[in-house]
Amino acid sequence: MQLVYLNGDYLPLDQARVSVLDRGFTFGDGVYEVIPVFGGSILCPDEHLRRLYNSLSAVAIRNPLKHSEWYGIFERLLDHQPTRNDCSIYIQVTRGVGEREHLYNDTLVPTVFVMCKPIQARDFTSGVSAITHEDIRWKYCHIKAITLLPGVMLKKLAAATDGSLDAILIRQGYLSEGASSNVFIVQGRTVKTPATDGRVLAGITRDLLVRLLQEVPVGCEETPITEQELRQADEIWLTSSTIGVVPVIRLDGIPVGEAKPGCIWQEAFRLYEARKLNFAIPPGRLIG
Ligand code: PDD
Repeated sequence: MQLVYLNGDYLPLDQARVSVLDRGFTFGDGVYEVIPVFGGSILCPDEHLRRLYNSLSAVAIRNPLKHSEWYGIFERLLDHQPTRNDCSIYIQVTRGVGEREHLYNDTLVPTVFVMCKPIQARDFTSGVSAITHEDIRWKYCHIKAITLLPGVMLKKLAAATDGSLDAILIRQGYLSEGASSNVFIVQGRTVKTPATDGRVLAGITRDLLVRLLQEVPVGCEETPITEQELRQADEIWLTSSTIGVVPVIRLDGIPVGEAKPGCIWQEAFRLYEARKLNFAIPPGRLIG
């Protein structure tokens, strides 16, 4: 039986109920977070909660819980996990239940839902395919909004094209990010990723990888990347909490570099896998 948190209660997933007038349901009016947990240790919990607070503040939903209360929920749900297999903590906060009116009432009480979800063990080390697509999403990509219809459509299109893992998005001639990942490119020995200027989500995996790369000779530049640079890159990588650092070996059906995971990716992957747990909080250590 999977235990979830809903508005102050812990209950089995199949008993968790939300009103059809919840604004998350009627308007997609809410934000979310996904925090990876490896062997019971939570990766970068403070960074994820800070991003949640930023998303909440950007859409004027009040933060319903204190930092320690969020941590208490994570501990309790993880305690209840049947195994120490890798999982992610999914948090969703909506503006709450109200009349179906665009204009909301400031007194609404946010709906808070948290669950743990297994991370599918998938091996991406031999590389994946990706497609490119115009960035058809809204402009506030720094907000982790639950309104993910463009992302859902793009991921389905990617999967239907050559079994691609993600769609790499282009806005006005520049690379933004994947539909559910950040993107890095390699030119020779130079690693580049777009800056977090609102066109992309400030991915926690991205930020951690940039930080780790900056400690080694390879480095990483945060800079605008043109569509042409993307297409001519020697290597392309995708990053996210649930996939880690993944090499793209075919873009729109065309080989990237030598059509195999590149040597800079191998360095980055090893670095990330070796160091990520240094940024994780072990079980039972979040509070107190
Ligand atoms: N998505 N960009 C977008 C649009 C994303 O949806 C995600 C992750 C990322 C990577 O962020 P992070 O490294 O913090 O996971 C970038 C999550 C995993 C999701 O929607 O399930």
